[in-house]
Amino acid sequence: MRVLGIETSCDETGVAVYDTALPGAAGLRAQAVYSQVALHAEYGGVVPELASRDHVRKLLPLLRRTLAEAGLGVRELDGVAYTAGPGLVGALLVGAGVARALAWALDVPALGVHHMEGHLLAPLMEDDPPEPPFVALLVSGGHTQLVAVDAIGVYRLLGETLDDAAGEAFDKTAKLMGLPYPGGPQLAALAAEGAPGAHRFSRPMTDRPGLDFSFSGLKTQVLLAWRGSDQSAQTRADIARGFEDAVVETLAIKCGRALDAAGSGVLVVAGGVGANRRLRERLHAMAADRGGRVCFPRPELCTDNGAMIAFAGALRLAAGQHDTAAVRALPRWDM
Ligand code: KG4
Ligand code: ZN
Repeated sequence: MRVLGIETSCDETGVAVYDTALPGAAGLRAQAVYSQVALHAEYGGVVPELASRDHVRKLLPLLRRTLAEAGLGVRELDGVAYTAGPGLVGALLVGAGVARALAWALDVPALGVHHMEGHLLAPLMEDDPPEPPFVALLVSGGHTQLVAVDAIGVYRLLGETLDDAAGEAFDKTAKLMGLPYPGGPQLAALAAEGAPGAHRFSRPMTDRPGLDFSFSGLKTQVLLAWRGSDQSAQTRADIARGFEDAVVETLAIKCGRALDAAGSGVLVVAGGVGANRRLRERLHAMAADRGGRVCFPRPELCTDNGAMIAFAGALRLAAGQHDTAAVRALPRWDM
């Protein structure tokens, strides 16, 4: 099956074609992502109405380019998958509307995919993919969740953030330290210049049992440390390092607990924060200590993209699932 995937849940327009005849990442016939980061930068965050309008402008040209790169005519598609939620409703509607219309015109099935299931299954495109059951850490700008994956499509929530998501904590902390939007990767780059241990922040909720997270207090700790400091370039880097270490260590502690609780040795990490180098290193070490392993998608498949939606959609469509003709756009949707 050749499945088109469309992602428009936030500020990235993603399109890809996944072919189930080929294994893993080889099935990815073509993919393209257009990022709206520059459009939203001057507002310091995503402006929903601007996001929707830009998806309208970019989606069809991106679709044409992706099909040309895949060497496929539109009539050679066997199905269309789109992100049905969660996300910004106006942005979701653009992808859902185009996907539905295309599927109807081509007389092929369409399927609304859960954005986080897309992230969660993305590591399965890599070589030597993990087989369920395993534990997944979903860390993006909107979510921080630990999920037990019993089978593809059978998920149990083990724990989640009670306030800010990990990526949101990175972005908000970066903003209050005067870094430009989007702050997560910038803060991580700054942290690389910082001295470990120069500033130590707490590891929230690790002093009690449980798999939930809370990151909103960390930004206040950072703010107080920054205001009370000499505000030199080195201090800024040291504080960034302290913040990054706190988030990474907290995630590693909870992932270790989740593996132990699930009796699993395999951790799969997905979502934008999964691109963080120090998190990758720390989780590799944590899994190795347990004789297990951790699987990440390549960095470009960590952040929002159409490939993960094409892939998740292809797995479901190939298993015979599809939706009714309704256009689905669900701003809130439990996986
Ligand atoms: O999954 P994603 O692309 O979008 C959704 O939120 O669904 O994740 C974006 C988040 C942002 O908060 C961004 O700051 C964060 O991932 N991020 C990072 C890094 N790269 C992206 N956070 C820390 N270190 C990074 N290298
Ligand atoms: Zn995402």
